[in-house]
Amino acid sequence: MSDPAIAAKPAGPVYNRNQPYTAKLKENRQLNQKGSSKDTRHISIELGGSGPTYVCGDSLGVVPRNPDPLVQEFLEKLGLVGNDGLKETVASTLILNRAGKKFVKAVADKASGPSRDKLQAISADEKRLEEYVFDRDVVDVLSDAPGVKFDPAEIPTLLNKIAPRLYSIASSPDYEEGHVHLTVAVVQYTTHGRAKQGLASGYLARLAARDSVPVYVQPTRHFHLPPPDRDIIMVGPGTGIAPFRAFLQHRHRHGHSGRNWLFFGDQHAATDFLYGDEFSGYQKSGRLHKLSTAFSRDQADKIYVQHRMQEAGAELWQWLDQGAYFYVCGDAKRMAKDVHQALLDIVARHGGKTPEQAEEYVSVTLAKTEKRYLKDVY
Ligand SMILES: Cc1cc2nc3c(=O)[nH]c(=O)nc-3n(C[C@H](O)[C@H](O)[C@H](O)COP(=O)(O)OP(=O)(O)OC[C@H]3O[C@@H](n4cnc5c(N)ncnc54)[C@H](O)[C@@H]3O)c2cc1C
Ligand SMILES: NC(=O)c1ccc[n+]([C@@H]2O[C@H](COP(=O)([O-])OP(=O)(O)OC[C@H]3O[C@@H](n4cnc5c(N)ncnc54)[C@H](OP(=O)(O)O)[C@@H]3O)[C@@H](O)[C@H]2O)c1
Repeated sequence: MSDPAIAAKPAGPVYNRNQPYTAKLKENRQLNQKGSSKDTRHISIELGGSGPTYVCGDSLGVVPRNPDPLVQEFLEKLGLVGNDGLKETVASTLILNRAGKKFVKAVADKASGPSRDKLQAISADEKRLEEYVFDRDVVDVLSDAPGVKFDPAEIPTLLNKIAPRLYSIASSPDYEEGHVHLTVAVVQYTTHGRAKQGLASGYLARLAARDSVPVYVQPTRHFHLPPPDRDIIMVGPGTGIAPFRAFLQHRHRHGHSGRNWLFFGDQHAATDFLYGDEFSGYQKSGRLHKLSTAFSRDQADKIYVQHRMQEAGAELWQWLDQGAYFYVCGDAKRMAKDVHQALLDIVARHGGKTPEQAEEYVSVTLAKTEKRYLKDVY
């Protein structure tokens, strides 16, 4: 196949989770407007000429580090400040933002007085232990057992190891050559009086221009663009928008003739229409044939992407019946399930099928036989 979106990659150095490429951050910009309850970042990373290469639909693996103040607080609580080797090991390899059960049990063993009794009781009860670790980081645990000390060599054995996180790539490789874009929702919450951030999303949010960032490409097995003349329907609320920005860039750049229909949703049109200007521009220039938005909190009742799908059900069925590909990206737990159900309803209602025939059409014909129902959900 000659389309660069699906062509084989040239052979080159292999970067992976164990051997990432040290890239440079180019841009870290907030996509939400002032007043939003969310913090979603547009992250641009420079891969240069020797970094990993990617195609639309791939994900980028990011190897995160802990924030320095959290590392410092942790070492201070243990009286281990000044051990630079330990400091680097903790910063780069051990999870601090979520306490593990092994750590709580070890702290309970070393604690004394009432805090020992309390932590021993929690450790002995699996349900209580689950609840205890759910919203605590390692500093919260140490605050419950003041004065606990460990041998520095023990620390790496007590904490879980940092693993890389994946982010759907939000740019076409030839949109800005040698660069990769991401759309990152920063996980943040406050528990036990302390503000917390997700390990990798917080790490990316803290990066400034020219900072190093270890990355690798995780190739997609299935989430590819279709042949250029085929229509595509893309459902990507929130950060689910990422691969579809890449798809649209790519189809625009390469003059693909297939039509593009995007469903996007987030909380408020005024503050959360991620890349809204770009999509409005594509729509005006005729590259985005349909744009259906669902801003969930702009009215009393929630409106989600699947409601917009239902409203446009007759036309959506027509597109599918004429061979369109159907893509879903974003939240796996609720959104993708509800979108799947909406798709079944639309196929039954507008395709004149029984519920069983609709199930067969969506889950077998579309998904398995013709491979035009594709998901990138997390
Ligand atoms: C293929 C793939 C593609 C992805 N693409 C994207 C993408 O494009 N954009 C994107 O933003 N993400 C994407 N993700 C998700 C991403 O990989 C991370 O999982 C996400 O950024 C959170 O990681 P973190 O390290 O920031 O948070 P972590 O440190 O892993 O913390 C997250 C955890 O914090 C806990 N938590 C959250 N809120 C609370 C609370 N209020 N109280 C207590 N605990 C809480 C939860 O247990 C949650 O699981 C993708 C995932 C996959 C697998
Ligand atoms: N801890 C935090 O601060 C925080 C904040 C936001 C997201 N998150 C998590 O971060 C991840 C990424 O979030 P995101 O920014 O990509 O957006 P998201 O949370 O997936 O939300 C995007 C849009 O989808 C809507 N939505 C909620 N449930 C839905 C459903 N069942 N079907 C269809 N749409 C639905 C949301 O509406 P409503 O929000 O109005 O219901 C919002 O309008 C998600 O896994 C989410 O759970 C965490």
